[in-house]
Amino acid sequence: MFDLVIENGIIVTASEVLPLGIEIGIKDGKISCLGTSLPRDADTQVIDAKGGFITPGGVDSHVHFAQNNSPTGDNFTTGSRSAIAGGTTTVLAFASQLKTETSVIPCLDNYLLRAKDQTYCDYGIHLILTNPTPEIMSTEMPLLIKRGITSVKLYMTYEPMKLGDSQLLDVLMSARALGFTTMIHAENSDIISLITDRLEAAGHTDPFFHAISRPQIAENEATYRIISLAELTDTPILIVHMSSEVAMKHVRKAQTRMLPIHAETCPQYLFLLSERLKGNPQDTFAGAKCVCSPPLRHDPKDLEAMWRGIANGTFTTFSSDHAPSTYDHAGGKKLGLKDGIMRYRDIPNGVPGVETRLPLLFSYAGREKDSRLSLQRFVQLTSSDPAKLYGLEGTKGNIAPGYDADLVIWYGEGDFKEGVTIEQKNLHHGVDYTPYEGMHVKNWPRFTLLRGKKVWDRDGGGIVGEVTDGQFLKRGMGKIVVGKQGGEVNGMLPGERDYWY
Ligand code: URP
Ligand code: ZN
Ligand code: ZN
Ligand code: ZN
Repeated sequence: MFDLVIENGIIVTASEVLPLGIEIGIKDGKISCLGTSLPRDADTQVIDAKGGFITPGGVDSHVHFAQNNSPTGDNFTTGSRSAIAGGTTTVLAFASQLKTETSVIPCLDNYLLRAKDQTYCDYGIHLILTNPTPEIMSTEMPLLIKRGITSVKLYMTYEPMKLGDSQLLDVLMSARALGFTTMIHAENSDIISLITDRLEAAGHTDPFFHAISRPQIAENEATYRIISLAELTDTPILIVHMSSEVAMKHVRKAQTRMLPIHAETCPQYLFLLSERLKGNPQDTFAGAKCVCSPPLRHDPKDLEAMWRGIANGTFTTFSSDHAPSTYDHAGGKKLGLKDGIMRYRDIPNGVPGVETRLPLLFSYAGREKDSRLSLQRFVQLTSSDPAKLYGLEGTKGNIAPGYDADLVIWYGEGDFKEGVTIEQKNLHHGVDYTPYEGMHVKNWPRFTLLRGKKVWDRDGGGIVGEVTDGQFLKRGMGKIVVGKQGGEVNGMLPGERDYWY
């Protein structure tokens, strides 16, 4: 018999919207069947979804929790608490290698200790590789893969983290041989340094100049370059946090050639513009709150372009890049403030967003006049495709028998006419602001279920899960979601490539 039956909801998956009233039967934390009039006994709990949509728990494949370089940001406890309150049941967070480290094992073990028994939702780990030595690539990466850490992030910018082209090629060749997933932060580092030095010499250091120092051409160039390196080596990649139309066009073009080039965008690049970096009369430093990289763009046309990429399939994942720092606190976003002058160079990069990610996008999903994507596409971008790309298919990201019963139950139409205004005071992260303050969303998760357990009950206590509920996810190999691998590469047929592969 089922432990739990959810009745009276509208189930949405990446491929369909089921008729009202198909019930979900849950046993031992897994979905065991979908059907009508499912049997119950005295021990079966029942949740009435009251006509609301039911979507798979969110998979946020890009969050920064408990990273060394953001001491005033979220840890696993505050970050994951915020996640479940916004309908996200799985996060993938980053352990980060220091350039001086010649082994990544201690760094990973250390990072896992920061999460164990301190996390409200399930979590997996990516590795940021800053010093990909031959030893790490040949000996340690296979061990990591065995432990379920099957993805890395590489930076083309940021002095302490960036890799040069030869290092990028080394990692791509290794990804090709071992099958792990490679995420890329694509911005041209030298362009940014040159402009930053010149702006600083001219006294232009306000947060707004952060956006001037990282122009679209820096993202454009790095995006085209990494796609070229990926094509040469015949390796799938995912370009993270894309912000501009010029760069996105390279991805689109590569995809029409069936290259396995995946891309991600984030809420900040759908909703926020660089004017937010200018602060306000009450607080001239408030622009620091919106410093992230790539920066917020100047032109509403870029927001429109990102929305197009959301709707037309260019983006595979919609993640938060939740990377906040407290604003009004020593070591926080006001780190850029010295002697009354705000220097953007010293402001920690990143904005909060793990809790608001699903409600913001869900507000534009459906068939209403102002909708921009289908409900199925919403599920695909926020849950199913990140699960596939990062090796969680079969467990996360779907409402089907055998999958974990990670579910979001939204309010039904009658219950929630007026929507919600996003306010910092109602959020659950550990930082002191949201860039979406005052924005209106149409709906909010009423319940979040993690493996069949209610962990968020908006009207019945809020966070009702426990900080030990989250489990480490030993991930399998990621799937290619876009394009295909193999075939003709860079004008070379497989036979020609064999000479040097
Ligand atoms: O500004 C951002 N995105 N900071 C977080 C680190 C990163 O590059 O994703
Ligand atoms: Zn990045
Ligand atoms: Zn990030
Ligand atoms: Zn303080």
